[in-house]
Amino acid sequence: MVVLDGKALSTTIKNEIRQEVDQIIAKGDRPPHLAAVLVGNNPASEAYVGNKVRSCEQVGFSSTLVRRPESITEDELLAIVQDLNDDPEIDGFIVQLPLPDHINEEKVTLAINPKKDVDGFHPLNFGRMAQGLPAYLPATPQGVLLLLERNGIETSGQHVVIVGRSNIVGTPLGILLSRKDKMGNATVTMTHSRTRDLAAETRRADILVAAIGIPNFISADMVKEGVVVIDVGINRIADASRKSGSRLVGDVDYDAVAPKAKAITPVPGGVGPMTVTALMLNTLKARRKEIRY
Ligand code: GUN
Repeated sequence: MVVLDGKALSTTIKNEIRQEVDQIIAKGDRPPHLAAVLVGNNPASEAYVGNKVRSCEQVGFSSTLVRRPESITEDELLAIVQDLNDDPEIDGFIVQLPLPDHINEEKVTLAINPKKDVDGFHPLNFGRMAQGLPAYLPATPQGVLLLLERNGIETSGQHVVIVGRSNIVGTPLGILLSRKDKMGNATVTMTHSRTRDLAAETRRADILVAAIGIPNFISADMVKEGVVVIDVGINRIADASRKSGSRLVGDVDYDAVAPKAKAITPVPGGVGPMTVTALMLNTLKARRKEIRY
């Protein structure tokens, strides 16, 4: 069984990005600049945005964190988005989700200039991705593809079963893996809460992707011998034996499933670091204006 080490791979890719940034600076140009907007004090969002800012430092990007209280109005947030759209020094930016209930996430996402939408959440980027046109690919699906590719895991002709159909993970990953592309050509089964006999579906997977946000949901009897398991879940559960009183677990019961797997991602240290690294790759693309609309 191979542990797919996303932490080590993300360090390797970040070093590659750093070298490209050094070349940009050596030419006398400014480094890529990512901005993140964080509304409120959601602990998970704070942690994710903190990782993004730290990663920017590691790869030599400039970063700007725009923090606003939970009480910000939708119009105020839209004005911040407009300012970032108009700022020539900002190559790309993200608005960390979830937003408070009084703010319409769709409206905010639509307000982001697609050329700066390094999350790949704008419908223009999503639609271009679905049609196989150049686009910013959403970070988590892109991170999963990189993890498979750089570990030599073939997707062509493989049966991939995805558990969870979210707009930011399951659905785009299904589209990408079934595309006619290097890390595509898979046969994809998309499963969700209404799927009948889920275990029968997951047991057919050559590659199983768990992205539902339920701790330890995938048990050993739900996978076949030799499966490749990609665990996208990041769930915090109580653990009295830890000083913090909690720990992170994935959507897969790792200890039970790993012995049956050919390869598996750990949590933490699997998909999570790859997601942040994919955002850095998108920001580098934005700096180079690589995607033409
Ligand atoms: N919330 C959870 N994941 C993400 C992400 O990838 N981008 C943003 N903006 N918010 C998120």
